[in-house]
Amino acid sequence: MESAQTPISTDQSLRNRMRKFYETSEAYKNLLNQHNHVYLKSYVDLVDWYTPSDEYTLDLGCGNGISSKMLHDRGRNVVGVDISPLFLAETKKWENDTLKYFVGDALSLDFESEQFGVVCSNELIEHTPDVEATLLEMIRVTRKGGRIVVAGPNLCSPIMPLLDFTQMTFGRDGRPIWAETKQQAFKNLLKNTKLYFKKRFGQQPNFLYREPDLENQIIGGDADSTYIASPIDLEKFFRQQGLRIKKLCVGFGFKGKIMATFFPRTSLYISMVIEK
Ligand SMILES: C[S@@+](CC[C@H](N)C(=O)[O-])C[C@H]1O[C@@H](n2cnc3c(N)ncnc32)[C@H](O)[C@@H]1O
Repeated sequence: MESAQTPISTDQSLRNRMRKFYETSEAYKNLLNQHNHVYLKSYVDLVDWYTPSDEYTLDLGCGNGISSKMLHDRGRNVVGVDISPLFLAETKKWENDTLKYFVGDALSLDFESEQFGVVCSNELIEHTPDVEATLLEMIRVTRKGGRIVVAGPNLCSPIMPLLDFTQMTFGRDGRPIWAETKQQAFKNLLKNTKLYFKKRFGQQPNFLYREPDLENQIIGGDADSTYIASPIDLEKFFRQQGLRIKKLCVGFGFKGKIMATFFPRTSLYISMVIEK
């Protein structure tokens, strides 16, 4: 069986397939129902705590739009954008003068440059077939001095396969597509440890992609992800573009704070705050 992390190169056909998938997948829309106020609280807190609330805010890849609404409820002027009109279908009822939703592609945004004081995204970058284009668009539409917040899973963390391995050793189930057996978890542990050192000590960001599983109806666990997201790539890329990393990793809860303080680049989650 091919590993969920086998790197590929991306092309226009993959972009089209992913767009079609998000535009039409009812199964994925149902899965997004789990992204409720509780699920999204840490992301909304992250944006709220580390960016000024009086700034015009773009919530990119907002899915069902709840995070945009939560940010709006905390006093912001917010625009939520997602590639899928299907996922945004229920958001019309929340719209008002200071909360708007648009269908749009993060790889090529329909906004003027420097329009937003804050640009944020939760669990978007690992789903884009060209993360460099996405990050460049995020930078372009952010005003000078504004902030970018990127949140989502760290798919290169060696800690995740270590947890998978430990849990399976104690009789718990594996994690579908990523590590269904102990052997797979161990292989991923070695792979991610090697990746960590390669990325950490390499000069350039090294964006790696995988073939997303867009057929499986029981989609979940990031089966549809294509960019093997790493905070080290993002850190290097933003620095190369002349931006400042304000927070490399923000942790939530006791364990999260320990991880963010001592292991910011191997933490299970990416939660980065950048200033343009
Ligand atoms: C895992 S969901 C996260 C949704 C939301 N941010 C949340 O946390 O609930 C990934 C989202 O990214 C959106 N997406 C994927 N590619 C995109 C693109 N190129 N432009 C804009 N949105 C995109 C998908 O439609 C989907 O809603």
